Amino acid sequence: MVSTKAYEMASKQRDISVAEFFEKNRHLLGFDNTRKALLTTVKEAVDNSLDACEEADIIPEIVVEVIDMGDDRFRIIVEDNGPGIVKSQIPKIFAKLLYGSKFHRLKQSRGQQGIGISASVMYAQLTTGRPAKILSKVGPDKPAHYYELKIDTARNKPQILKDEKGENENSHGTRVEIDLEGTYVKGKQSIDQYLKQTAIVNPHVNITYVNPKAEQIIFPRVTDKMPRQPIEIKPHPAGVELGILLKMLSATSFRTLQAFLTNEFSRVGSGTAKQICEKALIPPSTIPRRIKRGDAEKLINAIKKTKIITPPTECISPIGQELLEKGLRKEINAEYYCAVTRKPSVYRGNPFQVEVAIAYGGDQTAEGSVNLLRFANRVPLLYQQSACSIFRSVADTNWRPYGLSQSNGSLPQGPVTIAVHIASVWVPFTSESKEAIAHYPEIISELKLALQEAGRKLKKYTVKKRRVKEELKKRSFIEKYIPHVADGLREILDLKRIEVSSVEKILKQMLEKKRGKLDKVGFDPSENPDYDEEFARIGSIGRDDEKKQEQEEAWENAKADDSEENEQKKEEKDQKENKQEAKTKKE
Ligand SMILES: Nc1ncnc2c1ncn2[C@@H]1O[C@H](COP(=O)(O)OP(=O)(O)O)[C@@H](O)[C@H]1O
Ligand SMILES: [Mg+2]
Repeated sequence: MVSTKAYEMASKQRDISVAEFFEKNRHLLGFDNTRKALLTTVKEAVDNSLDACEEADIIPEIVVEVIDMGDDRFRIIVEDNGPGIVKSQIPKIFAKLLYGSKFHRLKQSRGQQGIGISASVMYAQLTTGRPAKILSKVGPDKPAHYYELKIDTARNKPQILKDEKGENENSHGTRVEIDLEGTYVKGKQSIDQYLKQTAIVNPHVNITYVNPKAEQIIFPRVTDKMPRQPIEIKPHPAGVELGILLKMLSATSFRTLQAFLTNEFSRVGSGTAKQICEKALIPPSTIPRRIKRGDAEKLINAIKKTKIITPPTECISPIGQELLEKGLRKEINAEYYCAVTRKPSVYRGNPFQVEVAIAYGGDQTAEGSVNLLRFANRVPLLYQQSACSIFRSVADTNWRPYGLSQSNGSLPQGPVTIAVHIASVWVPFTSESKEAIAHYPEIISELKLALQEAGRKLKKYTVKKRRVKEELKKRSFIEKYIPHVADGLREILDLKRIEVSSVEKILKQMLEKKRGKLDKVGFDPSENPDYDEEFARIGSIGRDDEKKQEQEEAWENAKADDSEENEQKKEEKDQKENKQEAKTKKE
């Protein structure tokens, strides 16, 4: 009986294509609701365009059009002036999941998984049945190629519906057109907000955006200087895991262990390689292919015991504290700004770097939690705030000494915006939708150090402000008595009215002289020439509507966690009841 069941089960066991898997689990890719689907698609296409332009050293010129087609359908068009895509690659890039150029390398970029744009194509065909339309050209004297593509999800292979010569006015670049079901919203999690924040942290980019109301918004570039090109690095030995080391040992073309170590890893010179071999008790001349599991394990332990310099950091390209602060100045009219860029650090062998900027007071509302802006590799993160290690680090930092109120374990309160950027060769997102950063202890620790450093700068201002406020209170208290003193003097000395007013003036002058000059604090809207009111308004809605949107997201997240948590709570309750029962029985 049992054996027949096994055969019956065997007849149903088969491969699952990665496309079918994600078709069923599209929430993992950022397509769990129609609002998010629209944003995710724009984001994937724009991120690709920016990555491609930067890699080709072309100053990016991006056009984004979102057209309302009625019946909850939208057409998204994203066009760039990038290097274009070679004809034979176009079908695989847009109609095969897990295909890309960034997964296997260690270098900062916006995309990394090779699953971004093809996921949007899959979602589009799922909701509208329509193919993606791609036009690409690799050079002025090369023809443009036009494709209409769908994904054969059962096989995760491109299905080519049209393959023709196309017309592209630009000398090079790519145009992507995708029809999908979506909902267009304004507010914190909107396309408008994403593009605005993208413009803030990518000042070298020119974006022309036409929204579904056919309004054109231009985000002009602020600098012609491209960000420093990150350089690809080799893996750092400190982060290598056993399985990876075995794979590298069997694939290497180097003939000795010593050559393998010095050439396949960063920061391993011949001295370090010799030390590792010595500690592992394996001769440096060993042929890498012959090293089996036991010896590989010895190598890993030897690496752990050897002092190796931290990975090179030219593979990451931070925004820089000046630009990050300038970005905040443009969007928020505050009374005080500060920013911090930490030195690069390493998690699991991957270099990363944290930057923080704070805008305090001014136009910002004092009610409720601070406004937190998250960025990873120059991409704004708009969803899953509470699941992100950036959020956790801000909430777990004690902001009270820096002058903000805060209840334990939550975001601080007050008229403050905190912008946090993580740049890394591999950002450890919690899911393929790339919305929240995983809780690696090394990352959390760096985040907290950066926040504390920025917090200490903020403290200098909040302390000064409090002091000035207290002093002003005292002065106004003393000032209240000046007319009474003057009046007393008039009576005693029989002064004339004109003399009384000069006595009052002298007393005021004395007060100011004795108590000293006050520092300048407070909000002067004309003090920030960078502030752009019109820009600040893009994508924003009233605070109430924003709260509503936040609640909706929290509700959606809670629904996902709910079943698990309920189970746990039920279990705890049961245990409590059992204990209680046992206790009463005893009594
Ligand atoms: N607009 C574009 N211009 C040039 N190359 C592109 C463009 N869009 C995508 N690509 C190429 O297609 C690959 C796959 O893109 P995608 O599926 O978004 O994955 P990822 O960005 O994570 O690598 C990229 O790695 C890149 O090489
Ligand atoms: Mg991508």
